[in-house]
Amino acid sequence: MTNIDEIAPDVFRISTFVPEGGLQFNQFLVRDEQPLLYHTGMAGLFEPVYAGVAWLIEPSSLRWISFSHFEADECGGLNRWLAAAPQAQAAANMVGTVVNLSDFALRPARMVMHNEILETGTRRFRFIQTPHVPHGWDAGMLYEETGRVLFTSDLFHQSGQVEALTSNSLIDRARQTLLDYQAGPFADYQPYTPRTGTILQSLAGLQPRTLATMHGSSFTGDGGAEINKLNEMMQELAVSFNMLPSLRSVN
Ligand SMILES: [Fe+2]
Ligand SMILES: [Fe+2]
Repeated sequence: MTNIDEIAPDVFRISTFVPEGGLQFNQFLVRDEQPLLYHTGMAGLFEPVYAGVAWLIEPSSLRWISFSHFEADECGGLNRWLAAAPQAQAAANMVGTVVNLSDFALRPARMVMHNEILETGTRRFRFIQTPHVPHGWDAGMLYEETGRVLFTSDLFHQSGQVEALTSNSLIDRARQTLLDYQAGPFADYQPYTPRTGTILQSLAGLQPRTLATMHGSSFTGDGGAEINKLNEMMQELAVSFNMLPSLRSVN
């Protein structure tokens, strides 16, 4: 079942719960002169995501498709979308474009450099390279400056069938997800590298008002404080998972 919710003005969360995995896969459609879809979902989710987009805009008018990192749930449906929407073009950072999309995508992608802005009409999307945050060399975050929406990909991942948007902190749920994954075959889902803290602090400095998460509820409120809390939590877990030798060495 796929649900659609407006989590911020003209920012729509298209959410499909996959019971086998016990998690939601959320795509985001930003309605503007040049509509942008953030994450396509897996190729196997193309039909429900397409139906969700069709409920909001004429799908063939989709102009931009973007995502954090090269992974099936982020961009598995990309080529289905490029075939369905003739004006659509992938937009990705330098690593994502050169390393992955130059070979994978049906049409050339738009390369957007670190901190460069992509304008879609009334919206300004800042591309921020965040290597290995949440994971992957090519990882990035997208920040829509006009509405102050940060698209956080797998950061703040919460399992289960949860509400579309909340003003309650996501930290306890996100901690539980990382603990559950670490205890099973999906361990080391999100690394905490010596650069992770600095990257998260700089994202917090953007002071987003909405955190649009890929798995679980989105958050509305003091996004900067929420990201700082996430950083503290991930750092503590990284020590307990032996990803980091000690807190002292990274401070
Ligand atoms: Fe991912
Ligand atoms: Fe994901």
